[in-house]
Amino acid sequence: MSPQNSALWLPKPGAPFQVGPAPYTPPAASEVVVRVRAVAVNPIDGLPGFLYRLALPWLTFPAVVGSDVAGEVVETGAGVTGLRPGDRVLGHAFGVDKSRNRAAESAFQHYVVLMRHMVSPIPDSLTFAQAAVLPLALSTAATGMFQQDHLGLAMPGAEPADHADTVVVWGGSTSVGSNAIQLARNAGYQVVATASPHNFDHVRTLGAAHAVDRNSPSAVEEILERIGGGPLAGILAIGSGSLTKTVPLAARAPGGKRIASAQPELFTRITRRRARRHGVRVSSIWGGTLKDNEVGPAIYTGFLPSALATGAYRAAPDATVVGHGLAHIPHALRELKNGVSAKKLVVTL
Ligand SMILES: NC(=O)c1ccc[n+]([C@@H]2O[C@H](COP(=O)([O-])OP(=O)(O)OC[C@H]3O[C@@H](n4cnc5c(N)ncnc54)[C@H](OP(=O)(O)O)[C@@H]3O)[C@@H](O)[C@H]2O)c1
Repeated sequence: MSPQNSALWLPKPGAPFQVGPAPYTPPAASEVVVRVRAVAVNPIDGLPGFLYRLALPWLTFPAVVGSDVAGEVVETGAGVTGLRPGDRVLGHAFGVDKSRNRAAESAFQHYVVLMRHMVSPIPDSLTFAQAAVLPLALSTAATGMFQQDHLGLAMPGAEPADHADTVVVWGGSTSVGSNAIQLARNAGYQVVATASPHNFDHVRTLGAAHAVDRNSPSAVEEILERIGGGPLAGILAIGSGSLTKTVPLAARAPGGKRIASAQPELFTRITRRRARRHGVRVSSIWGGTLKDNEVGPAIYTGFLPSALATGAYRAAPDATVVGHGLAHIPHALRELKNGVSAKKLVVTL
C-alpha cells in the first residue's frame, strides 16, 4: 500500500498556503521518491501573487512549491543505480520548473519525486536540516560557474589543477555565494569575495583568499588590487546592485570579461546592452538549467557525495530550524522576507 502523503498547497498566486492531502506518486524509471525530513525556504517560494505570475507564468494551480529537500529514499525507479531505499540524501526538487510543472516534484510535502541525477547521498554526520540548505543555491552557483553559456569554468574535483586566475564572487555570504566560493576553490581557482565585514570570516572559512566590503565605495579598486596582475576567470554577481559594481570591474580587470548574474533576467537584460559596450558579456542564470546538461549530474552524482564525505565541501550557510511540520513553512517564508544574514531558514518534517 502507498504511504499517505500531504502537502502545503498554494491554491493560487497570493492566496494563503493550505496543508492538505496529496497523492503519493511512484517514481518513473529515472526518478526516486524521498520521504522529506527537512526543507529550506527561498525567496522564490514566497513571492507576492503578481511576482509569481511574472517569475513562473507557466505554473498551474493549485501548486506545490519548494526546491530544497533532504530526507530518505523510499522508492527507486526501474533504471536507478547507486541509490536504494533507506539512503540519506539531499536533492533539488524541480516541480516549479517550466519543463516539469508538476506538484509531485516540489519540496513542500512529505513524499517528493526527484530526478535521480539531481540527488546526492549525504554522510551520517550531516543532519537533514543542514543538508537542506544546499540544493537550489548549489545548483544556481554551479550553473553560473560551469555551464558553457555562463562562465564555463573547469569543473571541481578531488584533485583539481591549480589555476592562476581568480573568480570574483560578488555577494559571497549569500547562500548562492557560499556555494560559489566552495565550488571555485574545489575547481582550483583563487577566490575574492564580497560580503559585509561581519561575514568576512564566513567567506574566508569557505575558501575566499580575500574578503572585500561590498558596501565600500572603493570595493572595485580593492578587488582589482587583490587580483593583482593575474587574470580574472569570471565573476558571479549575486544580490541587487551587483551588476552596477561588477560590470566596471570586469571591464578593467585583465582576463575573462564574463559575468554570470543571479539577478532576475528582467534586471540583467537592461545591464547587458550597457556591458557589451565595455566588452563585457553578462548572462542571466536560471538555477535549474543544469539538470538538462552535463553539469547537474557531474555536481550531484560525481562531485558532491565524496566532497561532503571528506569535508572538502560544507553545507553552508548554517541552517536555522524555525519549526517542524508543513504548517510552519509559511512562517519561515515570512521570516525570510525580514532578511537573513549568512544563514538558511529550514523547517523539519
Ligand atoms: N537565478 C536563480 O536561479 C536564483 C536562484 C536562487 C537565488 N537567486 C537570487 O540570488 C540572490 C541570493 O539568494 P540567496 O538565497 O543566496 O540569498 P540569502 O542566502 O538569503 O542571502 C542573504 C545574504 O545576502 C547578502 N546581501 C543582501 N543584500 C545584498 C546585495 N545587495 N548584494 C550582495 N549581497 C547581499 C547579505 O550578506 P551580508 O550580510 O554579508 O551583506 C546576507 O548575508 C537573491 O537575489 C535570489 O533571488 C537566484
